[in-house]
Amino acid sequence: MYSKKVMDHFQNPRNVGEIENADGVGEVGNAKCGDIMKMFIKVENDIIVDVKFKTFGCGSAIATSSIATEMVMGKTIQEALKLTNKSVAEALDGLPPVKMHCSLLAEDALKAALYDYAKKNDIVIEGLEDFEPRDHDHEEEHDHE
Ligand code: FES
Repeated sequence: MYSKKVMDHFQNPRNVGEIENADGVGEVGNAKCGDIMKMFIKVENDIIVDVKFKTFGCGSAIATSSIATEMVMGKTIQEALKLTNKSVAEALDGLPPVKMHCSLLAEDALKAALYDYAKKNDIVIEGLEDFEPRDHDHEEEHDHE
């Protein structure tokens, strides 16, 4: 059911942890399952020089976030913004369809961290002007309406 790459990144996740004095921190929740992802970035001259993540999430969330950190490390902010949950899943040789939602955590947490970086530095990142982290509490409210 899971590719070798998924199993590898799940069992040996890369870049797990926190960055002290991170330039940007993003925390997002998954609307479908309530799992949580936190991403930390260090930025120098527009380049992501370090990135780490912590999650309270399933194996697919761990694997997608692990490979996502590898994909954006050393990249410019604009290059990192091209990362999507699809490109992350492809890099892992695919995810089972019922697990695709897990890969959203990696994309959203990275965007939230970049957004936080922009806010702290009073800059606007092209493509993130209207960014709003997906908010699962909000969606739950809608369910009750
Ligand atoms: Fe929640 Fe995968 S089941 S992120």
